[in-house]
Amino acid sequence: MIGQPLSIQGLHKTYAGNTHPVFDGFDLQVEAGCLCAVVGVSGVGKTTLLNCVAGLDHWEGGGITVGGEPVPAGAEARALYRRRFVGLAFQQPHLLPEFTVRENLRMPLLIQGEVSAQAEDWIAELLSTVGLGELGERLPGQLSGGEAARAGLARALVRRPALWLLDEPTGNLDPATAEEVFGFLLDLHAELRPTTLLVTHNPGLAERCMRTVRLG
Ligand SMILES: Nc1ncnc2c1ncn2[C@@H]1O[C@H](COP(=O)(O)OP(=O)(O)OP(=O)(O)O)[C@@H](O)[C@H]1O
Ligand SMILES: [Mg+2]
Repeated sequence: MIGQPLSIQGLHKTYAGNTHPVFDGFDLQVEAGCLCAVVGVSGVGKTTLLNCVAGLDHWEGGGITVGGEPVPAGAEARALYRRRFVGLAFQQPHLLPEFTVRENLRMPLLIQGEVSAQAEDWIAELLSTVGLGELGERLPGQLSGGEAARAGLARALVRRPALWLLDEPTGNLDPATAEEVFGFLLDLHAELRPTTLLVTHNPGLAERCMRTVRLG
């Protein structure tokens, strides 16, 4: 799926029990297909922003739209929205430990009812794009940190989501491995063109994104 524009208007977000808002009228427009770095000091609200856009968290005011459609309000509608539009990846890849890498990638497609020879071809292509072509039958516990990070990225993207929300996907990796995983990410982004928010503390990676949004 081709990326959709993301629009955030007048976002207000205060966590229950906190006196200070994380966002107090925050605006952001991200054009379709943009790879946008999100930077800012620890605690400024980067993960909160991704959680709101993913419909994983609630906010009190303002609106978020993807492709002109508001992120829905109800839990069920939000789960459907995530399944249809959002690819999420975090510092920890959270792969299902008892399933192979290939099965981990197949899972989001199975949930969508997409079981076909084309789906299997796409999984194989994606694995090879992230350099895991030979490791599809391994269990997550048999992967290095960098390999697991790449598998997590591939799983987040297997449904070709319109929106990628990546929270420090290379944060746990040594600089060389982070660089390598980032390279795969750039390749995949160039191929699929999703609209992307990539949280990173690494200025070198942010520089190579199409645009940088600094919070705080
Ligand atoms: N569940 C929560 N309940 C209350 N406050 C929270 C909660 N989650 C985050 N916060 C607070 O909201 C602010 C923003 O947190 P957030 O996790 O979005 O920061 P961040 O920019 O992602 O930081 P980091 O770079 O350390 O990951 C922080 O002050 C944090 O303490
Ligand atoms: Mg964070």
